[in-house]
Amino acid sequence: MTEIAFILNGTPLSVSAEPTRTLLDWLREDRGLFGTKEGCNEGDCGACTVIVTDETGPRALNACLLFLPQLHGKAVRTVEGLAGPDGALHPVQQALVDHHGSQCGFCTPGIAASLAAAHAVGRTDHDEVLAGNLCRCTGYAPIIRAAQAAEGAPVPDWLAPPLPEAQAASDGVRPRSADELATLYAAHPEATLIAGATDVGLWVTKELRDLPMPVFLAGVEDLRRIEADGDRLRIGACVTIAELHEAMKTRVPGFAELLRRFASVQIRNAATVGGNIANGSPIGDTPPALIAMGATLHLRRGGERREMPLESFFLDYRRQDRRPGEFVEAVTIPAAAPALRCYKLSKRFDQDISAVCGCFNVTVQDGSVTAARIVFGGMAGIPKRAVAVEAALLGQPWKLPALEAARAAFAADFAPLSDMRASATYRLEAAANLLIRYFHDLAGERVSVLEVHA
Ligand SMILES: Cc1cc2nc3c(=O)[nH]c(=O)nc-3n(C[C@H](O)[C@H](O)[C@H](O)COP(=O)(O)OP(=O)(O)OC[C@H]3O[C@@H](n4cnc5c(N)ncnc54)[C@H](O)[C@@H]3O)c2cc1C
Ligand code: FES
Ligand code: FES
Repeated sequence: MTEIAFILNGTPLSVSAEPTRTLLDWLREDRGLFGTKEGCNEGDCGACTVIVTDETGPRALNACLLFLPQLHGKAVRTVEGLAGPDGALHPVQQALVDHHGSQCGFCTPGIAASLAAAHAVGRTDHDEVLAGNLCRCTGYAPIIRAAQAAEGAPVPDWLAPPLPEAQAASDGVRPRSADELATLYAAHPEATLIAGATDVGLWVTKELRDLPMPVFLAGVEDLRRIEADGDRLRIGACVTIAELHEAMKTRVPGFAELLRRFASVQIRNAATVGGNIANGSPIGDTPPALIAMGATLHLRRGGERREMPLESFFLDYRRQDRRPGEFVEAVTIPAAAPALRCYKLSKRFDQDISAVCGCFNVTVQDGSVTAARIVFGGMAGIPKRAVAVEAALLGQPWKLPALEAARAAFAADFAPLSDMRASATYRLEAAANLLIRYFHDLAGERVSVLEVHA
């Protein structure tokens, strides 16, 4: 059992719980708070959305993928805590009523929580805020109208309770620094590291697995930083996709555009860069972009550190160059990558996993290609550079005939699989087409589906 101190709907609590008990199960089964709904129990539907506040502010998270120890030192607000102590509805709740934003009501608590989290920080990009909240009966128009109506209302003061006192040092489950984590993990290489739990959570909720010795990274402050390191940026392993997205908007917009397509707001608020790399998925979205930028991976075991080009980390399907007791400490990238463009092909625009993700970073000097890093996810068992395509382009004029000629090289680089996301033929054809799209994109033509309309 693990002791967890946090604030629930304004009330400080100290809870003793199994470390892999999810907030959703605990709210419903132990607290009788049934407002937070269980739809999918895998981060897809948003019915379980709650607001979690820490020193960085409030954010919407999926309670189904949150283990209780991840809440230590934080404040949680469920739909039951959105109204004021006198029963006054939160402005987004009132607006949902006024604009008929609910029918069966199953999605409504999650939608109210997502909208209230966005309202608290002044976000008005409602389509994006709600990309992780499914509603099957009302339709989104009345919900968006409600969100717009609530925009100008002041944030209710009852939503901002003080956070619990900073907690004492590591208890063997929640290291507070990278040094503590290094010592703990080197001594217990059998431990399960849990960062955002957006992958690990499913091992528990869907596969019903018992996790050996869970170790939570949420409190490892020094892995949560993005720091300038000369002409490179060092991104700590526990930086969330949402934080990375924010940082990349001005520095590497081509990467930011991809991160905006990563799952939903709730998942991006939890998922970390380190988790996305370490899980070794061939369809993880950050590795192809990071490799295309020439990223360096920093690994650590105890006091021993090593680094490698990120592409060398991925050895084979789900097999990485990571030793027992070794963890991802950071990844470094150039501070700018003006030619980087990333294209994610998926069945849905929002909240979907890539069928193919192509990332291009080509340098053209005096009209000819002088350097090329072209990387794909979804085309092999690992995120993989298109080395034959790169070689076919090097030294060639940056013109469409040369790019068309390079198409043939895709078949030398990749023999993709057919699966539920796409057929092998589609993947190969689409990947080659993305090279042509990249050409038009660099030429300043509109290629985003958000800009291109029939
Ligand atoms: C609904 C949903 C949508 C998703 N959509 C996308 C998407 O669009 N694109 C995408 O790429 N992924 C997506 N994912 C997958 C997932 O969100 C990402 O892989 C995420 O980056 C994992 O990060 P995490 O911090 O949650 O990792 P966790 O679940 O905490 O951990 C994942 C793995 O990495 C290990 N690990 C974590 N941190 C470290 C570290 N520092 N060092 C060593 N090992 C570590 C863990 O032990 C575990 O094996 C989605 C997941 C869900 C549930
Ligand atoms: S229950 Fe569907 S996202 Fe949590
Ligand atoms: S109101 Fe029924 S699912 Fe949204």
